[in-house]
Amino acid sequence: MKERFNRQVTNIQFSGIRSFSEEVSKVEGIISMTIGEPEFATEQIIKDAAIEALNRDFTHYPPSVGFLDLRRKIVEFEKEKHGLTYDVSEVVITNGATSGLAAVFMALLNPGDEVIIPEPMYVAYAPMIAYCQAKLVSFDTSSEDYQIDEAKLRACVSEHTKILVLTSPNNPTGCVYTQESIDAIARVAKEYGFFVLSDDVYNQLVYLDHLPTIHDHTELRDQIIIAQSLSKPYAMTGWRIGYLLGETSVIREIAKIHQYLVTGISSISQKAAIAALDTDPSTVREIYRRRKAFAMKRFQEMGLPCVEPQGAFYLFPNISEFKMDSLAFCRKAAYEYKVALVPGVYFGKSGDTNIRISFACKEEELKEGLNRLEKMIRDLRGN
Ligand SMILES: Cc1ncc(COP(=O)(O)O)c(C=O)c1O
Repeated sequence: MKERFNRQVTNIQFSGIRSFSEEVSKVEGIISMTIGEPEFATEQIIKDAAIEALNRDFTHYPPSVGFLDLRRKIVEFEKEKHGLTYDVSEVVITNGATSGLAAVFMALLNPGDEVIIPEPMYVAYAPMIAYCQAKLVSFDTSSEDYQIDEAKLRACVSEHTKILVLTSPNNPTGCVYTQESIDAIARVAKEYGFFVLSDDVYNQLVYLDHLPTIHDHTELRDQIIIAQSLSKPYAMTGWRIGYLLGETSVIREIAKIHQYLVTGISSISQKAAIAALDTDPSTVREIYRRRKAFAMKRFQEMGLPCVEPQGAFYLFPNISEFKMDSLAFCRKAAYEYKVALVPGVYFGKSGDTNIRISFACKEEELKEGLNRLEKMIRDLRGN
């Protein structure tokens, strides 16, 4: 045996966020603002649907692309909620958005292909792309307040560009793309014909009246793949349920590899998902909106610069004033001030001047966590 493991896997690291969170969770009395999931429990009506599915013996292998009734429900839901027109044959049920994203990369990428992703970016994309032996081409969007500069985007395009990943609202910034950013992406995608993978997992947690989306550019329909999840809006992170939408010939190839990855998605979660899509996440959205406003006010009081998020439950304030890298800052915060924050460097090199704070934690924890951060900042400034 020359090499014991797959070279790509050997080079991949375990998630930095998880290991850092685990490490600092051992600090006694620490308040965690690292979690990327709602503190709320799944609604009872959704749990009841799961119990009913069990009692009705939905305990066998489900179809590999998902139950027809769930795919029908998704088609109706996307039409009604977002004005999207997809056929049931263009839907694949996935294990959260995660297995969907993996299947998209595996189905589309050949070694040497390039994937463009604006930085800072969600942590799971890069390892999946590396596994496919494709190249990640990223560009820093911080100087544009996390919007897309068309010239910077164009500079990343090459004959090898296969996919552009778009995450709006974004993790870790919470920012949403403006119409100008979306139009710039659409122009370049149309010109070069690459796929646009739209990771829409936070699109029901938006604090604007209107979310500009790439989907309005219907001329790109055949190039667009949507990754969606019930994890965040319905507090269903543990149910592992999501879906992909895409044009038939594209989704067919993706479904092929996804089938061998997962066989099928929990039949119980699928039945619960049908009930979930009938519930309204606006109550939690309003709670998050208030928490976001509270945190932004506190940052202002602290004099900590932060681009105001318009979606998701993250804030990405800038800490460059303190001349520490983000990991050193977060270690100090955890061990000396007992508040757990996520180092921005995990979202790309350019994120090293920032920290990610999640306001999906309990309200009292958010308040106390920000008090502790304020104390640290005061001490660092010497006042
Ligand atoms: C941008 C983004 N995409 C996808 C996911 C994956 O979530 P899930 O697999 O639970 O749907 C997450 C989770 O944090 C995320 O932030």
